[in-house]
Amino acid sequence: MVGGSVPVFDEIILSTALLNQVISFDDVSGTLVCQAGCVLEQLSRHVEERGFVMPLDLGAKGSCHIGGNVATNAGGLRFLRYGSLHGTVLGLEVVLADGTVLNCLTSLRKDNTGYDLKQLFIGSEGTLGVITAVSILCPPKPKAVSVAFLGCPSFAEVLRTFCTCKGMLGEILSAFEFMDAECMQLVGRHLHLARPVQESPFYVLIETSGSHAGHDAEKLGSFLEHALGSGLVTDGTLATDQRRVKMLWALRERITEALSLDGYVYKYDLSLPAERLYDLVDSLRARLGPRAKHVVGYGHLGDGNLHLNVTAEAFSEPLLAALEPHVYEWTAAHRGSVSAEHGVGFKKRDALGYSKPPAALRLMCQLKALLDPKGILNPYKTLPTWA
Ligand code: LAC
Ligand code: ZN
Repeated sequence: MVGGSVPVFDEIILSTALLNQVISFDDVSGTLVCQAGCVLEQLSRHVEERGFVMPLDLGAKGSCHIGGNVATNAGGLRFLRYGSLHGTVLGLEVVLADGTVLNCLTSLRKDNTGYDLKQLFIGSEGTLGVITAVSILCPPKPKAVSVAFLGCPSFAEVLRTFCTCKGMLGEILSAFEFMDAECMQLVGRHLHLARPVQESPFYVLIETSGSHAGHDAEKLGSFLEHALGSGLVTDGTLATDQRRVKMLWALRERITEALSLDGYVYKYDLSLPAERLYDLVDSLRARLGPRAKHVVGYGHLGDGNLHLNVTAEAFSEPLLAALEPHVYEWTAAHRGSVSAEHGVGFKKRDALGYSKPPAALRLMCQLKALLDPKGILNPYKTLPTWA
């Protein structure tokens, strides 16, 4: 997404693929300890057999490694329910630039012994150390998972649906995702996925995860009835069997794939106040006019996270100049973040100043100099170019 793991100049690539062993799993606390090269989907299977789930889930689960997930502080589809890796990661083993093995691989929920050093490495994109093992808290596997896929007449209704949803489904709500009509057209055109509800300007995917199927279905049913009756949504469908749940999720999860089949993609991953989340998409559509093939907005509305993507036939400097710094300035003006979950990598390092004050950037550089004085760990990434 941001070129954090892509070698650009003279880097040497380290592989942790052979560090692929589960070290332990505690059935009482749900704590998994494993090596960094374990693939997320395999870990999911491992813990699900024991009645738990991984606290994170992403489209790339079949190939991504847990060490990379932690190093990039991956967000994903379960964030709304289980929160950030800054909360679910309990311990790390990290190799520092001078070869020291920093063993902070504890499994304690509470450990208030001064600086929480592991947090430095979560989201540091390999610039401060190499994560070699992870201890992570897995929540119990929900007994019932249901998905509602809805069509909304405008973004105002998407927001009202979210508020209503929190009120009526709060304790079982596990995801609230949205996509606009152009996203739906693209997954239809490029991936041949069928639209499950009437055509609408916006679509919402709501997932609930609870402990009692009957109870959850009843709640979701009465929510849907209310939402349809009050004009929040114009059409909706419910799924409780795994196959249909997967099918509805695919419409949302595969948007990135559909976009990449549409042409060159300019990608922005922004945190914004939910009320203003879609304004930028509308204004950008007007600003770019026919220069863009598609301007789309989708993402994790429940987390205030917009994925704003623009497609064009090919890369063009003038189009880039129309996008940047405009998108970043707009985000900064609304006190948002220029990287909500995709990180900084190579592409966004000079945009950091839009979301962090100079004193914070200086401290980041001081930490880098302390932990990696020779600059050998993921060089050219995460820190501003001037550093
Ligand atoms: C998603 C990726 C782009 O949410 O983060 O689909
Ligand atoms: Zn995302």
